[in-house]
Amino acid sequence: MSQTKSLKDLKRPDLFQQKGYIAEEWVDAASGDTFDVYDPATVEKIATIPEMGREDTNKAIQAAHDAFQTYKKTTARQRARWLRKWSDLCLEHADDLALILCLENGKTLVEAKGEVTYAASFLEWFAGEAERIHGEVVPVANLNQRVLTFKQPLGVAACLAPWNFPIAMITRKVGAALAAACPTIWKPAGETPLSCLAQAVLAKEAGFPKGTINVITTLNKVDEVGKALCESKLVRKLSFTGSTRVGQLLAAQCSKSLKKLSLELGGNSPFIVFDDAKVETAVEAAILAKFRNSGQTCVTANRVFVQDGIYDKFTQALTERIKTLKVGVGTEEGVFVGPMTHERAVDKAMRHIEDAQKHGGKVILGGKPYDNGGKLKGYFLEPTIISGMSPEALTTREETFAPVVALYRFRTEAEVIDLANDCDVGLGSFIITESIPRMWRVAEALEVGMVGVNLGLLSACESPFGGVKMSGYGREGGRQGIDEYLTVKSMLINIAT
Ligand code: SIN
Repeated sequence: MSQTKSLKDLKRPDLFQQKGYIAEEWVDAASGDTFDVYDPATVEKIATIPEMGREDTNKAIQAAHDAFQTYKKTTARQRARWLRKWSDLCLEHADDLALILCLENGKTLVEAKGEVTYAASFLEWFAGEAERIHGEVVPVANLNQRVLTFKQPLGVAACLAPWNFPIAMITRKVGAALAAACPTIWKPAGETPLSCLAQAVLAKEAGFPKGTINVITTLNKVDEVGKALCESKLVRKLSFTGSTRVGQLLAAQCSKSLKKLSLELGGNSPFIVFDDAKVETAVEAAILAKFRNSGQTCVTANRVFVQDGIYDKFTQALTERIKTLKVGVGTEEGVFVGPMTHERAVDKAMRHIEDAQKHGGKVILGGKPYDNGGKLKGYFLEPTIISGMSPEALTTREETFAPVVALYRFRTEAEVIDLANDCDVGLGSFIITESIPRMWRVAEALEVGMVGVNLGLLSACESPFGGVKMSGYGREGGRQGIDEYLTVKSMLINIAT
């Protein structure tokens, strides 16, 4: 089955760019190398993009560093205006951005449109935060002294975005950086560079000065580009969203230049349904937490813990609800679950399902790749529910990153807190309960960065996003997001006569 829309349907064809972007120029790789981008729903080629390397990265770093000399002197009001304009442009061209995103990532058009709105919200939010950057006056014991602090931009910021939310993760990082007066280098994932490049077109149109926005594209030279960014002393900040393994590598490489880091890494979110929950609330929250972007989110409900008394009722209601979800290409009307972005994601999900069966699990629904009777060519998986496996199963220990619900039965609150915390990572979590005291107790006890209560989505520009343990450090979005790009300078003043 082919997509019902293509890149030819763009109202602004210039949003579809197939070059990198350095110092206000659309450029090829210095080497002339390229790589191809594919639609994961049809496995058809949709673009050819420059395969950039160290030389291109160094040019972008120099352009951003040059821009910093004047950009750091711009007023917060001016930066806020550019950000607001960019946000407005995103919303004005939301249909085009969503189509590009849907075709390169696989997520449905409806979801892609949601991501564009989410992306624009960060720009608007940080436009507000730009004007709230301020220091403080601190009382001192020495009567002849005064201490005051003020905040200044760190300098060039490298923003490395993942393929699962290519537009929103760019604006969550870049919006904060530009608000703080830091010029930026964007490194989109090789699988999904097109929506980032479209965003660069709009950011330029919004008025950001030359060199404040640079985009380096790569698929196969990602190690070389990453190393150049990490080791450069001119890059003062690096923000990365992706796997724990790559986060550790980047942190090690950044140790040479000791730059400030934000790492939003892997998760293994517990989704806990207590006996006192409303079944309908629990089911709808689980659908959102599990099937958003076909289960490919860092905060997806990876381990669904359900209390004994509600287990059968919830499982049955969830199974019936999942049976209604339409699977297919993202541009088709009514489709809720698109393909996964990689072929290897289907292989990993199958490995997890087979391993869960070996550990006593039973497939209640789905459990196989999906081609709709040979009509679908892409990387699809049947929405799956598996239950009853032992804690040693891969579904307990690793992110499955697929539309696979792994169900676990528990008896007491204390037991589920121990189960939920029994892992190396701690990003998102979900609690479904009607009890306010229980909500507080469990939220405080979970070793995570974020807790959702009676809902299935942790995403809001106003809320700081990030984790603990091996899920990384730093926060994006919220009031805290801008501080990641600022340094505090203190001034001690002698006022003795
Ligand atoms: C992620 O999966 O990394 C981000 C999800 C979100 O911001 O909602």
